[in-house]
Formats: sequence, C-alpha cells, structure tokens
Amino acid sequence: MNTQIAVFGATGQQGGAVVDALLEHEARVRALVRDPQSGRAQALAARGVELTAVRIDDPASPAAALTAVDGFYFMTPEANSLDEVEAEIRVGTALVDAAADAGVPHVVFNSVFGADRESGVPHHDSKHRIEEHLRKSGLRATMVRPTAFMENFATVMAPSLEHGEIVLRLPLPEDVALKMISIRDIGRVAAALLLGTAEAPGGAVELVGDELTGPQIAAAFGARAGLPARYEALPLSVLPSELDRAMFRQFAEAAAYPSDPAVVRAIEPATRDLAEWIRSTGWAPPR
Ligand SMILES: NC(=O)c1ccc[n+]([C@@H]2O[C@H](COP(=O)([O-])OP(=O)(O)OC[C@H]3O[C@@H](n4cnc5c(N)ncnc54)[C@H](OP(=O)(O)O)[C@@H]3O)[C@@H](O)[C@H]2O)c1
Repeated sequence: MNTQIAVFGATGQQGGAVVDALLEHEARVRALVRDPQSGRAQALAARGVELTAVRIDDPASPAAALTAVDGFYFMTPEANSLDEVEAEIRVGTALVDAAADAGVPHVVFNSVFGADRESGVPHHDSKHRIEEHLRKSGLRATMVRPTAFMENFATVMAPSLEHGEIVLRLPLPEDVALKMISIRDIGRVAAALLLGTAEAPGGAVELVGDELTGPQIAAAFGARAGLPARYEALPLSVLPSELDRAMFRQFAEAAAYPSDPAVVRAIEPATRDLAEWIRSTGWAPPR
C-alpha cells in the first residue's frame, strides 16, 4: 500500500497502537517525534517507520513534517495539572494549524468520550477546545473518542487478591456502568478511518468496547481466576488530584450518555469486550 500516514504520539500507547494497525495494513508511516534518538523512536525506525523530529513551539516545524501525507493522526499528551491542560491545548491547536498549513487531506484526532460538549473535566474540555479548533480549520476531520482504557486494569485500577477473593475498588458508585475500550482497538479503528476502509457516521466515533458496573468488572476478573469476586465503591476523596475527581464524577454522569458498541464493531469487528481483553493479556490474580 502506498498510502502515507503521519502519526503524532507514535512512541506512546495509543499512537503506538495506531502504528501497529497501519503497519499491519502495509501503510507507510511517518512518526512526528520530539527525539528521534530515543529508544522508543528507534524501535519504530527498526520496523520501517520514518522518523521526523518536530518542535511544537515552532509552527513551521510540524507543518514541514506534514507535507505530502495522505492522512494525519494525533493525540495530545496526558495533563495532570491546569498548567499541563493549557500545554495540551497548545500542542493540539499547533498540530491543527500545522495540518491546515500543510493541506493534509484527512485528520483523525484522538479526543476523549464526551468531548463533543463541555464536561467540567479540565483534561476533557481541553480536547473539546481542540475539536472546536479542528472544526473551524476547514480540514476534513474525524474524531475518535476513547472511553477509559481497559489497560488501566493492569495498572492504576488493578484488582487485588485478598483471602482467596478478587477485590476491585474504584471511586465509582456500584450501579454505574463504566465505558471502556482496549488500546489495541483504538489503534485499529483510527487506522481504518485513516486508510478509508471505514467511515465514522457524523464524523466522530465514541470508542466503547464494553460497559460494565464495578460488580460486573470484578466478576469478570473473578471468572478468569476461578475465584469469588467483590466490588467496593470508594469515595471520590481517595483521588489525590481535583482533575481525577472531576473525571470520575464525569464517568458516573457519562453512564447516562448513549454510546453504541455496535458502531465500533461495524468498523473493527474484533473489538474486545472486557472478558476478551482479560484473556488476551494472560491476566492472573496478583500474589
Ligand atoms: N488513561 C485513559 O484511560 C484515557 C482514556 C481516554 C483518553 N485518554 C487520554 O489519552 C492521552 C494519553 O494518551 P497515551 O496514553 O497514548 O499517551 P502516552 O502513552 O503517554 O504517550 C504520549 C505521547 O505523546 C508524545 N509527546 C509529544 N509531546 C509531548 C509532551 N509535551 N509531553 C508528553 N508527551 C508528549 C510522546 O512522545 P515522546 O515522549 O516520545 O516524545 C508520546 O508519543 C491523554 O490525553 C489522556 O487524557 C486517556
């Protein structure tokens, strides 16, 4: 395939999954990186990815890196403070401006679920701002809006094993269904949109692979382990940052917003539900 796609964030989780899916389709990939010498950038180069160094604070730099590409995927870096939220908006708007300068034919922005409206979550409203900027740019744009990563259950949201029982604790009421998606599937959907093998109805797709309450999530891990499982809802005050408290508050509200996993599966039929994701990781209960 001769299609060339530029990727910002290729050394990270979601951008890395986009690169994996693009390479599977034999597309040519150009990664826009801060440091082409980094280990992660070099690992991409070893797989045939072209590396282009970019400086976001120099508008000419990303625009030059986007010449002659057929499509452009970008995400924006994690923000853990209000200063970082401002920095995230600067990165996103600079990349939109660069894509407009370069006349990129199609841009896919890795936003977040709910970014079609103001939510009061600073690091989600930043993505709403970037979506608005993209819409005004006149570029042909598609938003992919991921929900919580299933991969969080391997790190910050991992269940524990206590006295022969799987225990999951989250700051989420037990009757609220958490929407979630695996990072691999974010990459597959974004790649399909970039390569034109699928289209997002209305120019956006809400990335939901599963939607489960805390007790159902605990049960999925318990079933895998062959052990009893229970869920404990924690208060929001266990979260150290106001940004995270706002986000979990919004997760509870977002449960009321419709989302349709069938739309995601129409684009990527193999989209994983949580049980499939757990199996795919070879997850075993912690010791
Ligand atoms: N965790 C969740 O459940 C979840 C759910 C939905 C959305 N999100 C959103 O997903 C985004 C994070 O995505 P991810 O996990 O794929 O990111 P990640 O793995 O942390 O990767 C960050 C990427 O951004 C690049 N980058 C460029 N400029 C950067 C800068 N100034 N600071 C940090 N990185 C920079 C990094 O490249 P180099 O370091 O190589 O330069 C790297 O490729 C956040 O916006 C978050 O809000 C998260």
